[in-house]
Amino acid sequence: MATVFIKTYGCQMNERDSEQVAQMLIASGHSITRIEDEADIVLLNTCSVRDLAEQKALGKMGMLRAKAGSKPVVFGFLGCMAQSRGAELLREMPQLNLVVGTQKFHKVAEYVGKAHKARIDDVRFSIVDVEEETDSQNTIRDHLNHEEQVSAFVSIMQGCDMRCTFCIVPYTRGSERSRPISEIVDEIKMLVDRGIREVTLLGQIVNLYGRHEFPKLLGVSPFVQLLEAVHQVNGLERIRFTSPHPIGFRKDLIEAFGRLPKLVEHIHLPLQSGSDRILKAMRRTYTSEKYLALVDQIRSRTPAMAITTDIIVGFPGESEGDYQMTRRVIDQVGFDNAFVFKYSKRRNTPAADMEDQVSESLKEERNHDLLQLVNDWSKRRAEPFVGQEAEILCEGPSKTNACRLMGRTRGNKIVVFEGGKHLIGKLFSVRIQRSTGFTLYGEAQN
Ligand code: 5AD
Repeated sequence: MATVFIKTYGCQMNERDSEQVAQMLIASGHSITRIEDEADIVLLNTCSVRDLAEQKALGKMGMLRAKAGSKPVVFGFLGCMAQSRGAELLREMPQLNLVVGTQKFHKVAEYVGKAHKARIDDVRFSIVDVEEETDSQNTIRDHLNHEEQVSAFVSIMQGCDMRCTFCIVPYTRGSERSRPISEIVDEIKMLVDRGIREVTLLGQIVNLYGRHEFPKLLGVSPFVQLLEAVHQVNGLERIRFTSPHPIGFRKDLIEAFGRLPKLVEHIHLPLQSGSDRILKAMRRTYTSEKYLALVDQIRSRTPAMAITTDIIVGFPGESEGDYQMTRRVIDQVGFDNAFVFKYSKRRNTPAADMEDQVSESLKEERNHDLLQLVNDWSKRRAEPFVGQEAEILCEGPSKTNACRLMGRTRGNKIVVFEGGKHLIGKLFSVRIQRSTGFTLYGEAQN
């Protein structure tokens, strides 16, 4: 039986795609290993959102190929970098066997089978498949059957029709395509039957789910219709989603919180910049004022809402004044957490050719400064939990100390506590005793 090592770079969508690939490989008689040196087949599921992610995958592939020596191992790149670089990857790395794009994950098992056979027969073999495929959004639906898994990702749509000037995703993931509500609900029912208690609905811009396919009904957007349908699944306890765009985050979605109690109090709402001039150059089509107004509306409906965000520092033309505006908006919102990224030029995106690119050293300086601000806010946001009870869903052993358990609050804060394995998959209260900012520590209550 051929053994496959899969490594995933980048976002949750990529993790989900890798899970689909793993499940299909298992179904076709392969086994999955976590030990790279053991593998007959090495697949790197790649990310293109920043140059660093591409460099990591390229470096890893080079290293694994060198280590394999003359062993007949199959090597493949999957996903976003495979999509955006295609055959060029094969020219750079002639020993590569597979380059499979983002609409072709469902073909990986077939290609792997062919490539492995050729490798054993010592026949040269390579496939590049980065074509578009109608309905490929419906092919990410199978899950691994992990016992003790509590939370699962569910892909509800693919692609993005926004054209943020920094972003490569429209070119790696194609145009927006959504799955039908009934198929998503069936998938979630199957997951719940297997013991899943929480789902995270995934899409590039989830709040725009279904806008090209399904009509609004009585002012309710397709995304909120989907949330309502998922909410009805018996046995499901929590619903998350990521990521929405501030554009199209309308009243029906704001009001779904509270009305649908399984919808937890956390929104990841990418801000990108606090400067209106930079937002315009990014083609984000909102202003800082509009973003702040949206946060106000969300919080007036749901005071306990945890809000997290993405920020890019060093976008072309970002002056000290622009940067200070970003700092100001961060202070005005007080995010529970934020990912800060240094702007990275991406091929074929408008921002890559803009004048006034910011120096690496200045990006680094702003990145460092912003991380401190963001971390200060994380701590301030976590502090009020100390001394309180929080409802958590227990996911399993803590990543840092397997003798302890971990779970998440509805607001997505990680809580670590002592307890037996029977607690995994259960919802209960933990009394929070201390906080490090990112992690809360507490005692399970009976
Ligand atoms: N450079 C830096 N960060 C980027 N992101 C997307 N494209 C780039 C880029 N070219 C960030 C955005 C997005 C997150 C997933 O990655 O903040 O929200």
